[in-house]
Formats: sequence, C-alpha cells, structure tokens
Amino acid sequence: MIQNVGNHLRRGFASVFSSRLSRKSACRAEDTDSTMADGEGYRNPTEVQMSQVVLPCHTNQRGELSVGQLLKWIDTTACLSAERHAGCPCVTASMDDIYFEHTISVGQVVNIKAKVNRAFNSSMEVGIQVTSEDLCSEKQWSVCKALATFVAHRELSKVKLKQTTPQTEEEKMEHSVAAERRRMRLVYADTIKDLLANFPIQDDLERRDCSHMVPAEKTRVESVELVLPPHANHQGNTFGGQIMAWMENVATIAASRLCYAHPTLKAIEMFHFRGPSQVGDRLVLKAIVNNAFKHSMEVGVCVEAYRQGAETHRRHINSAFMTFVVLDADDQPQKLPWIRPQPGDGERRYREASARKKIRLDRKYIVSCKQTEVPLSVPWDPSNQVYLSYNNVSSLKMLMAKDNWALSSEINEVRLYTLEDDKFLSFHVEMVVCVDAAQAFLLLSDLHRRPEWDKHYRNVELVQQVDEDDGIYHVISPALGSDTKPHDFVILASRRKPCDNGYPTTTRPPPAFSTT
Ligand code: COA
Ligand code: ADP
Repeated sequence: MIQNVGNHLRRGFASVFSSRLSRKSACRAEDTDSTMADGEGYRNPTEVQMSQVVLPCHTNQRGELSVGQLLKWIDTTACLSAERHAGCPCVTASMDDIYFEHTISVGQVVNIKAKVNRAFNSSMEVGIQVTSEDLCSEKQWSVCKALATFVAHRELSKVKLKQTTPQTEEEKMEHSVAAERRRMRLVYADTIKDLLANFPIQDDLERRDCSHMVPAEKTRVESVELVLPPHANHQGNTFGGQIMAWMENVATIAASRLCYAHPTLKAIEMFHFRGPSQVGDRLVLKAIVNNAFKHSMEVGVCVEAYRQGAETHRRHINSAFMTFVVLDADDQPQKLPWIRPQPGDGERRYREASARKKIRLDRKYIVSCKQTEVPLSVPWDPSNQVYLSYNNVSSLKMLMAKDNWALSSEINEVRLYTLEDDKFLSFHVEMVVCVDAAQAFLLLSDLHRRPEWDKHYRNVELVQQVDEDDGIYHVISPALGSDTKPHDFVILASRRKPCDNGYPTTTRPPPAFSTT
C-alpha cells in the first residue's frame, strides 16, 4: 500500500521557493507588525460581528436553535463583511462543508464573527466563526466554522476587488491557504463526479433483510416557496441564507419520515449557488433520504426556480447533501432503519451516497483536522488525493506564514532559518541566485533532479502522476549514521507554479513545492 508519510516529512523537509529566491520571506518577525496587530486594539477592517439571543421562535421541535435560522444569520454576517470590503452588493456563490460541534439551546446567545480572508478578482473568501454562550454560567462553546465565497456585483461593469492586506499571523495563514481552498472549490463538482464514477461499489442491497427496510419513497418531500421582499436583498436577489434555511427545512422533514423522531443535522456538504433567484420567483424544493447507514443518514435536496406562467422553464439553483443523526436522551446516536431505494435514480443515489460518505469522511479527516491532529501517515487513495494535496500545500504555506522563524546561521549568503513548534523542527534555507525565479523553481521542484543537490535523496522514481501538479514518488535515501541499510519511502509531491490562471495578477502566489 502506498503510504502518505504525512506531517513527519512535511514538517521536516518541506521546501518553499518564493518568487524571488532572495525574498526575505513573510515569516520573519521584523517584516511584520503582528505584535501590534495581535495586541489589543487591532481589528480586521472587514470584521463584522452579530450576537443573537436564541428565542423560542428560532428553535426546532427539540428546543434547539434551528440550523436554518443559524445559516441565515451566518450568511447575513458574512455578506455584510464581504460588502464592507467590496463597497458594493455581493451574492453568495458557495458555502463550504460545515460540521456542527454543538447544538444551541433557547436562552443562549449565538456570537458570529466574519471577516474577509482574501479577495481574488470579483470573489472573496469570508471566514466565519460561530460560538454559543450561556449567560448564566459564562460558559462558551465553539459551534462551527464556515467558509463562504461571495461575488461582488455591479450593474454595468465587472468588479475588480482591491486586495486584502493580512496583518496578524493568523490572517497571513488564512490569506495564504485561501488560494489553495479556492482552487479546490472550483474543481469540487468535477472532483466529486470523477470520484463517484470510479468508486468501487459495495453492493450491499441484496444482502439486506427487506422486511426491516423503509422504502425511500416514504421520505420524499416537495415544497414550494414564493420569494417575497423580506427574503431578498435591496436588489431583489434572494438571500443565500434564506435558500439554505428552506433547504434545511425540507431535508429535516425527509429525515424525520425515516426515523419517526426529531433528527439532528450534523453536517452539510458544500452549497453552490448556481444561479440567482429574485423576488417573485417560485422555488420548488425536493428532498429524499438517499441512504441510511447505521447511525446516520444522507438526505439530498434540490432547488429549482420558475416564474409565474413559465412553470416548465425551471432553473437549477442549488443541490446539497446533509447528514442527520437521531440522538437519544444521552445525546448518543441511535440505530437507524435501512432504506430501500427505488430502482433507477433511487438506486444510483443510494450508491452515490455511500461513496460520498467515504469521500466526506476523508475530507473531514484531512481538511478539517487541526494541524496538530493530522496523523503522521495517511494512506493514499484516489478519493483523498485532492485533500492530501490541499493539506500538503496549505501546511507548507501555514508554516511559511509563521512569525517565529529564527535565523540560525548565515554562511556565504546562504541563510538557514529554524522554527521549533511543539515536537517539530522545521528548516528554511534562503539564498540569492541570479536565475529567473520560474526556472529555479522548475529545477528545484523536479524530484528526479533532487539527488543532484540533496544528499538525502539517492534515487527517485515516479510511481504515479496523479494530476498535472501532483505525483507519487518512490525515494531511496542513503544509509544514515550507524544504520547501514538505505531507507526508502513513498511521497506525494505537490507543485504550485508561480502564477496559476485565475489568481489576481497583483498578488501572484509564490510558487510552492511540498511533499507529504
Ligand atoms: N465557489 C466559489 N467561487 C466560485 C464558484 C464556486 N462554486 N463558481 C464561480 N466562482 C467565482 C469564480 O472563481 C469567480 O471569482 P473571481 O472573479 O474572483 O476569479 C467569480 O465567481 C465569477 O465567476 P464567473 O465564472 O465569471 O461567473 P459564473 O458564471 O460562474 O457565476 C456566480 C458565478 C456566483 C456569480 C453565479 O453562479 C451566480 O450568480 N450564482 C447565484 C448567486 C446568488 O444569487 N446567490 C444567492 C442565493 S440565490
Ligand atoms: P442527483 O440526482 O445526481 O443526486 P440532483 O441535483 O438532481 O442530483 O438532486 C440532488 C438531490 O436532491 C438528490 O440526490 C435527491 O436526494 C434530491 N432530489 C432530486 N430530485 C428529487 C425529487 N424529484 N424528489 C425528491 N428528492 C429529489
């Protein structure tokens, strides 16, 4: 099995090549004013906060804040942050996966904080943090983190956004990694399609006891909404948060029909708003349970819009997949009944839901994991390739953005910087060379040529070119110290060239080369 050697290698040998190799990288303390920025008084200029007391009218049947209401608040706060930066109206283009860590009860306070992580051309990534607060006990909980993309929109001209200038270490990291996340987002639909097409199907349908199965048809929901002025912004476009709330509503009904209980929403897969809808539009929302696993179920929702008198001309607005569980009195997930899909589309969705569950777990495990929790070694397979590459490059960028690199030595204008973090020691070498940066990058990031300049590499062979920028290599390194045997390992190497298409020309990302 090919092993991804994980953080161990990434933290130990990761290399980054800035656009001028002489650049005194952003990680040096004297280049930043983060001491000031991190201190009291600093506030990101795009930061917007919202605090709401949860009232009975915001709750579901379990007396907890309904996720639909929360999504509306999240979307509004994020939109206001995006508009503060853009200086013009913005629409929600997408909302990345959200995992809910806590439910929020009536009487508690929800605090939402949003700020623009990075502006691209006409779009911005907005980071949102949601916490809840118990006013009686002063306790606070993290509820979820979300990342939304907003697109600035002016009537007559295409918008070119001004760039953001990150100040604190955390802002620099988010700024840097936002570019990598954007890349992943824009290929998301194709990635999922490819993964589903190639996913090995474990056909467990025939093996299940039909007498204990609930027909999926029983969970089907269809509901219509008329978009009214309170559902839309001043330009008449429906708020993304409102659509997400309607989607959550039909999904909850479908989930309840499977289990005869009040289900709890645990996770939402990426929302992509494919096209706008306006006041006066009718939105048709359809939901059904696609598959039920032991303790969770996937509900799919699809939204279409039409104008009065043009019912056959429907526009696809959004499709999303939500994961529900049913909790018992001790908040433990209960066992769910199996589902029997309808032949045709139903069976296809049933199988695709199984595949998505695996893909989702991988994504959550690799992408949402706190850096310190990522294990040393992660088995590679095509379903987690995109996330491992993302993690590869984002870890490197995060490392580079740190403020506490220390200059350890300088010999013949070659500077060695080190950074000690927990149990990891990282190195960063910097030198001035009179070679075009792109050419130097190509040479240094060519693993086949690495044995020419790195004595830890004796031989490198490409095992698999997984996509244009990523490859899996078998590396043999010479015996070290008293060990007489050579070592070999398999690595995933990700290269990001100096100027990828789609990055704003004013802030070209430095090229990055990273191995996991
Ligand atoms: N996730 C994140 N950003 C996306 C995206 C996605 N799935 N799809 C497109 N974008 C970004 C592009 O990267 C581009 O950003 P850039 O200018 O910074 O490079 C920007 O959106 C415009 O892309 P473009 O290809 O010119 O436009 P498009 O035809 O794909 O339209 C939207 C993108 C978002 C404007 C369009 O799909 C839309 O109007 N959606 C509905 C938005 C809305 O009304 N939301 C509220 C609820 S209905
Ligand atoms: P797909 O069918 O490939 O999953 P769609 O965008 O058509 O993609 O639908 C997304 C999800 O919405 C489906 O997986 C399903 O759960 C739900 N859905 C779609 N059409 C219907 C329908 N007619 N009735 C109930 N639910 C539907």
